[in-house]
Amino acid sequence: MKYSVEIPKIGAVDVWRKSARQLLALGIAPELVHFGTGTGLFAMTPLPTQPKAPPAVTLSKSAVQLIETALCHADPERFDRAYALIWRLKERQVRFGDRSDRAMRKIMAQAKEVRRDIHKMHAFVRFREGPPNGTRRAFAAWFEPTHNIVETATPFFAKRFGDMDWMIKTPELTALFRDGVLTFEETTDPAPPPDDATEELWCRYYAAIFNPARLMVSAMQSEMPQKYWKNLPETLQIPQLIRSAAERVDQMKALAPSQPPAFARAIARQPSCKMAHQATSALEKTMLDARRCTRCSIGGRATQLVWGEGPTDAKIMIVGEQPGDQEDLSGRPFNGPAGAVLDMALEKVGFSRDRVYITNAVKHFKFKPRGKRRIHQRPNTGEVDACRWWLEFEIQQVRPFLIVALGATAARALTGSGDQIADRRGQVETGFAALPVFLTIHPAYLLRLRNPAEASLQTQRFHEDITLAISYMQLLEFENRGKTQTQI
Ligand code: URA
Repeated sequence: MKYSVEIPKIGAVDVWRKSARQLLALGIAPELVHFGTGTGLFAMTPLPTQPKAPPAVTLSKSAVQLIETALCHADPERFDRAYALIWRLKERQVRFGDRSDRAMRKIMAQAKEVRRDIHKMHAFVRFREGPPNGTRRAFAAWFEPTHNIVETATPFFAKRFGDMDWMIKTPELTALFRDGVLTFEETTDPAPPPDDATEELWCRYYAAIFNPARLMVSAMQSEMPQKYWKNLPETLQIPQLIRSAAERVDQMKALAPSQPPAFARAIARQPSCKMAHQATSALEKTMLDARRCTRCSIGGRATQLVWGEGPTDAKIMIVGEQPGDQEDLSGRPFNGPAGAVLDMALEKVGFSRDRVYITNAVKHFKFKPRGKRRIHQRPNTGEVDACRWWLEFEIQQVRPFLIVALGATAARALTGSGDQIADRRGQVETGFAALPVFLTIHPAYLLRLRNPAEASLQTQRFHEDITLAISYMQLLEFENRGKTQTQI
């Protein structure tokens, strides 16, 4: 016997959730049930009613959120697929988040597509003003989403435009916000609202923010797909704005004040004219070569090379990922916020930073410009491999007793393994030239933690890791007493 669950157009996720809970409690396997919207369901048996069942499987909040987001996808199979997945979770046939599982992957990908559609709706809905509703101004908008996102996406507008009345019509559903209450109904007349004077305002606004020097038509199309253009009053101007872009760039150039960017001063300060004959150690000479490195493309954008620093006979070497924004400007490793976290950990152990050789797996700052900011980008495997030559040279010269890898990139560069740091932290592995490598997290990870309790716990663990690493280095030093570091 095959059971059917009728999924309505409004409140679909709620109905699915309640039915799925009931089906699980009744032990009805996914092959015996079909979720649908009426057509073809009449030949099947409706679900037996039973009192509210206790949950048969407990999912984390983020798992529930992900499944419910995927349920807004336009794919007609989504309800059946989601039920099959929670059935398998209950049976422990799959672990939530396991990307090697096809169904899991599909649900994650569909949730992503839905989130993107929601984002587009938030960005591209354009209200036009209509006659007021008593004392409240009233607006209407027409939008065509790809997925069934009206109920999920519109609470955003209720928060934003809470003091107005508005309506967003889509081909399937209409969201109505009246006197602070948001309701939904099926759309009966899918005609876009009429034009009015608000359009002119939008057009002027859009023309003002349009920067012709950043004209990238393909990027505009991917961010604001043409599908939405017809409903956006400001897009009527796009062809004209594109046509006049070159001329406006010339005008901007003529007007532009010549204010140098922040890194121009750092470049001017660079000791780049230091000549090879002034370099004394092999490390210094090699650093001069590394400045001209073209093994990968990162160096082309960075302000300068950030070479390692510290005693060339240091007993311990600490390796990070790559210089950050501040390190790129100062030319010194761990000179910014992550460096402050590292300094504090060393201070706690009573070990001076002056006794450590500090460097990075990658010697240039990789970033993406966003306005005036430079956003850190993790170096890829090819870039880490390309830079490993310099790192190995530093290790060969310093020959520390112990190397500490901070984070996954350093761990990969030093051990060749990209396995999760969480599973390896606090342990010692064998690295380049058979030197022991102690693994721990990157201090920047601590700066990203938002939950204070978690941040404090993880900071303490990081301090413990550094303490352990220093003790281990001292033990190795003791065991090798009498030998020079190069004999080890
Ligand atoms: N993060 C790193 O990995 N290295 C630095 O030098 C600074 C931040």
